Amino acid sequence: MKNITIAIDGPASSGKSTVAKIIAKNLGYTYLDTGAMYRSATYLALQNNLTEADVPALLEQLAEHPISFGKAADGSQAVYVGDVEVTHPIRDNQVTNNVSWVAAIPEVREELVAQQRRIAEGGAIIMDGRDIGTVVLPNADLKIFLVASVEERAERRFKENQEKGIPTDFETLKKEIAERDYKDSHRKVSPLKAADDAITFDTTGVDIDGVVNFIQEKAKKIIDKG
Ligand code: DC
Repeated sequence: MKNITIAIDGPASSGKSTVAKIIAKNLGYTYLDTGAMYRSATYLALQNNLTEADVPALLEQLAEHPISFGKAADGSQAVYVGDVEVTHPIRDNQVTNNVSWVAAIPEVREELVAQQRRIAEGGAIIMDGRDIGTVVLPNADLKIFLVASVEERAERRFKENQEKGIPTDFETLKKEIAERDYKDSHRKVSPLKAADDAITFDTTGVDIDGVVNFIQEKAKKIIDKG
């Protein structure tokens, strides 16, 4: 059986990480959440009061406190910078609302992309982000680009927040998602866009199982062929 590489890209809250995690588990593949890496870099920038003007200091911080992944007690993925666990802090609003400027720094992207490619070297990997099919793994065996309306994505995030007990204003959430979409797709370096050979799938009105089955069927065809 062939070990393939799967790239899943798409805008904020399009369901990438939810489906990627399930597919990774089903196939016995490694899952790499590249958004968590940009969030971790943002966490380091904020902890150290760094701005766009402090790129060398941010790169130093990244070298001193390498980003790594481990397993939490409940089996879910835990994220670390150096030996500090940042799984939850990197989902805070402050990080979310600052990640676009950090992710737009070419030197930060260069470093994180190199790390992502090293992790993918062994194959049997499913990676999600914004530039996986276009930049990180241009030779990925399967490239999926997930989209969904802003309204639906805001609703999904709103529900998630409610379940976690995080107070949220729906209209603010919608505005923040639209703003992040705009920034992620209009930045100079590696903007969010579908690779020419990606399969675009609109998940508006489709449940998680529907998206998982769609991607898994495509993956299995490629695996069985190999
Ligand atoms: O997937 P996410 O929302 O956790 O990603 C957080 C931010 O990181 C997102 O707004 C854009 C950036 N990002 C990126 O630029 N490239 C990636 N491959 C993944 C995420």
